[in-house]
Amino acid sequence: MSTKELLLEQLIRSENDYISGSRIARNLGISRNSIWKAVKSLQADGYVIDAVTNKGYRLTSSPDIIDEPSIRKYLDTKKIGMDIIILDETDSTNNYARNIAESGAGSGTVVIANKQTSGKGRMGRTFVSPVNSGIYMSIVLKSSVDIETAQLLTSCIAVAVSEALDSLYKCNSAIKWVNDIMVNDKKVCGILTEAAVNCETADFKYIIAGIGINVGTVRQTFDEQLLEIASSMEDETGIRNPRSRIIAEVLSRLECHLEKLKTKEFIEEYRRRSWIIGRKITVCTNMHEKNATAVDIDSSAGLLVEYEDGTQEIISSGEARVRRN
Ligand code: BTN
Repeated sequence: MSTKELLLEQLIRSENDYISGSRIARNLGISRNSIWKAVKSLQADGYVIDAVTNKGYRLTSSPDIIDEPSIRKYLDTKKIGMDIIILDETDSTNNYARNIAESGAGSGTVVIANKQTSGKGRMGRTFVSPVNSGIYMSIVLKSSVDIETAQLLTSCIAVAVSEALDSLYKCNSAIKWVNDIMVNDKKVCGILTEAAVNCETADFKYIIAGIGINVGTVRQTFDEQLLEIASSMEDETGIRNPRSRIIAEVLSRLECHLEKLKTKEFIEEYRRRSWIIGRKITVCTNMHEKNATAVDIDSSAGLLVEYEDGTQEIISSGEARVRRN
């Protein structure tokens, strides 16, 4: 961490109390002049810091900047987020995470960007990722996972995100099979899980779990067409939660669910949160596009559908497009 981040950590730790310059200098092993420079730099970023003679410094408010100390303040994990990389800008955090996974980054490493220039969505689509308003985050997962368990992963992440949003925003988010999080019938989050397969053993070398959440208002940044189907947490609830806080909540809940992934316990919650059951849909696979009704979620998070001729099928890949009319 930089001096600025270390200072921020000290200020966050002392909560609402003042912490003296000499104590910070002792804790960090730096001069009081360096502290003063770091205070100025944090203030320039929008942090409001009281500086009172004979008392020291106190953090009174923070801008919505994603920083490691603010994430760690709420992070309650033992495996995920031991290493956190925060980037100003990248093409796609999934691409960045894949590159560092190839060159040895450990399981649980988290990559977060303030902006993505080529955010990737499912089915080759783009994920619009405007600067400083969303969470664009990818997690490297390296524990040995068979193909069946890997398929459960996306649904498990969806449950973790949906629960995290509900607890912080007091809303009732729902999951649109397989991986979108909906609030008030608008998409506020997408999840893209990518895997690298070891061709010799047919095992997964690693999995990259990519999560994109629209947090701040998107009314000025999304075009009209996108605004018909997508929105943000702020636009739907009127509430502003710091992105660092949301990240910590998502990661903490995700770690809990991942520990029990193989028990499939989360499926019940996934089904309960389903936005799609009972809706008229078009099933889009490589093979066909066919009208159907979404009937249920099966024990592996597959979607049970009933076609117009009465036949039923479980869909485990592809897309279910909801027919809104
Ligand atoms: C979808 O809606 O189809 C999935 C969207 C996934 C977006 C996230 S943002 C972080 C990570 N990096 C990417 O390029 N995509 C995922």
